[in-house]
Amino acid sequence: MVGSGAREHALVRALQQDPAVTDLVCAPGNAGTGERPLDASDPAAVVALALELDAELVVVGPEGPLVAGVADALRDRGIPVFGPSAAAARIEGSKSFAKDVMRAAGVPTAAAMTFEDDNDCAAYLAGAQPPYVVKADGLAAGKGVHVGTDLSAAADFAREALVTLGGRVVVEEYLAGPEVSLFALTDGTTVVPLLPAQDFKRVGDGDAGPNTGGMGAYAPLPWLPDSAVAEIERTVLQPVVDELAARGTPFSGLLYAGLAMTSSGSQVIEFNCRFGDPETQSVLALLETPLAAVLLACATGRLGELPPLRWRDGASVTVVVAAEGYPAAPTIGDDVEVDPLPEGVHVLHAGTRTDGERVVSSGGRVLAVTAVGADLGEARERAYSGVAAVRLRGSHTRTDIALAAVRGEVAIPPLGD
Ligand code: AMP
Ligand code: GLY
Repeated sequence: MVGSGAREHALVRALQQDPAVTDLVCAPGNAGTGERPLDASDPAAVVALALELDAELVVVGPEGPLVAGVADALRDRGIPVFGPSAAAARIEGSKSFAKDVMRAAGVPTAAAMTFEDDNDCAAYLAGAQPPYVVKADGLAAGKGVHVGTDLSAAADFAREALVTLGGRVVVEEYLAGPEVSLFALTDGTTVVPLLPAQDFKRVGDGDAGPNTGGMGAYAPLPWLPDSAVAEIERTVLQPVVDELAARGTPFSGLLYAGLAMTSSGSQVIEFNCRFGDPETQSVLALLETPLAAVLLACATGRLGELPPLRWRDGASVTVVVAAEGYPAAPTIGDDVEVDPLPEGVHVLHAGTRTDGERVVSSGGRVLAVTAVGADLGEARERAYSGVAAVRLRGSHTRTDIALAAVRGEVAIPPLGD
């Protein structure tokens, strides 16, 4: 396992529960997954470690290593890898590439214009309707998107992004409607969607404050019609997988579609080339099928031979425990302790490391408390009682993860509105 976040810990936990897995190493890892030094974005270093360990499967968690070609380097050496090539990972690494693939595949998404000149961009924005959506073209770790009604703030963001984040920005139509994260396993041909989830990106309750790497998630989505997953598979996931295959750059691994459920149907906001964080923590908590054979089937082009995935009934909620000062200036180096946890709750590590006998915080998002329950309400209550068992000085969480869904307050705008 390559990576160091709570997503990787969730994958490690699921793989450890699979009796077919005899040995598992996570690098660079954290205090929850075990630690092993590795520059995860250095293809040669990852290949060297995989050869040293005689790995039968390498699972690459984050986008950085995938965009850097880590999966290509492993495949070149004949090592099975779960994760797309650099060419296919551009679906996340370049917003304009993703738009081009969607256009070619006929996938519904926000209308968009790409700019390389800040004056052209500012002129376009001046004639557009608010809210304005401006995106940096490259990978930006959650900081590459501006959504707001203020014209000059949007133009300033575009100018800044053109200078600091890469040579291009994309301005797109605002999509109104609740968001869905739908993950699909694929071997480049067959597509197998997982349970739909929703994440919470802003730091504060009620979506107040700055964007973060994700403050919580839940799955599945009680407000989403039963037919939606199959429809998104048919209109979004399969066409994109087919388009990338037709271009000679098949996508093998996890294709993440971020969608808005709008009055004109489901529309793509973004693609990612890997499992989402923190949705993965909730989704994998409900998976009953042993994970290793599924990931290996993706890596070896045999996904179509597997029986359907099995899921446990009920729901799952994940609440992220963040360090003091996160996201602006997180404090690190504090002791992280967890009292005995209530039934149905587990704690996944993100920004932690071991320091002798102690576990200390090493990043902004420190732990992801995940709970399963018979329904979303029970999962949510359990997740928050799990949060109460965490002892980390100055830490903060959102208190409203999954709350609107439990209350039945999430609604898709009526079609044709
Ligand atoms: P992204 O980095 O593309 O995931 O964007 C981050 C967040 O910005 C998304 O999860 C949405 O909440 C919001 N966003 C991005 N694009 C749009 C859009 N076209 N319309 C509305 N909200 C958007
Ligand atoms: N949940 C958002 C992401 O993983 O990018």
